[in-house]
Amino acid sequence: MGNDSLKNRFQEQFGHECRLFFSPGRINLIGEHTDYNAGFVFPGAVDKGITLAIAPNGTSIVNVLAIDLEGQPTCSFDLENPQKPEQRWACYVFGACMEIAARGYACKGFDAAFTGDIPLGAGMSSSAAIDCVFAYALNVLFCKSEIDRLEIAKIGQAVENNWCGLNCGIMDQFASVFGKKGQLIRLDCRSLEYEYFPFNPVGYSLVLVDSCVKHMLGGEYNERRKSCETAVAAIAARWPQVRSLRDATHEMLDSVRSDISETDFQRASYILDEKERVLEVCGSLEKGDYENVGRCMYHTHWGMSRQYGASCPETDFLVGLASDCGVAGSRIMGGGFGGCTINLIKDGMLPAFIDMVKQEYKDRFSIEPKIYNVTIGDGTREISNK
Ligand code: GLA
Repeated sequence: MGNDSLKNRFQEQFGHECRLFFSPGRINLIGEHTDYNAGFVFPGAVDKGITLAIAPNGTSIVNVLAIDLEGQPTCSFDLENPQKPEQRWACYVFGACMEIAARGYACKGFDAAFTGDIPLGAGMSSSAAIDCVFAYALNVLFCKSEIDRLEIAKIGQAVENNWCGLNCGIMDQFASVFGKKGQLIRLDCRSLEYEYFPFNPVGYSLVLVDSCVKHMLGGEYNERRKSCETAVAAIAARWPQVRSLRDATHEMLDSVRSDISETDFQRASYILDEKERVLEVCGSLEKGDYENVGRCMYHTHWGMSRQYGASCPETDFLVGLASDCGVAGSRIMGGGFGGCTINLIKDGMLPAFIDMVKQEYKDRFSIEPKIYNVTIGDGTREISNK
């Protein structure tokens, strides 16, 4: 839906003018599940995301329309008597209001309608885009834009943690808010220091293959985080300076192997490997060695699959196909359990790979996979009225 159609739909629903805001989804080149282990991640915003039409309505009531959801559901709640909505999508909006209020700002009633072009549940963080577009817009409408971008990203994460039951890290919201055209972001999730990396792999493209296995992150994700915390507690009993897996080594983990379950051990071991891979990929990017970037991506995938237990047969199959086809790098992206694989492909190989994936995936799973070319775009912003 284009911006004019969104404005018209808003007008039709609420009978007044609105402003438009946008927040993107993200990709992540490498560094999966390292964010909540105080490690490094390497995401970038994409040119697809959530567009929000919004205007204050002079009451204490919030009315929201989710245009893309079946039946175009609406939800209303009263900020003077806030009751958490039942629908999950509405919790993102409710959470954003609550988190803004918790920071001492007077969030007032508004009307809102939102739509998006990032597929839901494809591992491209549509939910972070929703958290952040609302937090950003409420900041402009009710907080005189006093909240800075880092705090907007933290509000987005707090919405997921406190109101949507997902103990996620900060990667998705950070990438959505801080995205920059043509640049990936190397983020240190402990200090929150970050650096933009121009990403222009001459001769290669980044392509997402959507397995169309929908994932709603929740219990399984939180369990993995718990495993990491269990491993840290065991290590910290001997090395008190260890506060997260960021501080731990394989030797430390090996020495507590019998104190924790084999599952927790394998999961923590994946994180320690992944932490090193992010730094290796940074070095390879600086040298323009995309073949090594690709090799690291495959290692991440099989670590996510065999050690972290966060893949599924469909994404394993897609990565296997990529490898058979000679694609430089391929792996499951995001939280896992379905969604997209991210593929680094030599340009000349692209058409043959896409044809093969479409055919073989359909033959095996009777599902038509979706293919998206990745364009790295800008972060959260107001869309000018002019
Ligand atoms: C989800 C979470 C992120 C991050 C990734 C895995 O996208 O929201 O915080 O943990 O999974 O890297």
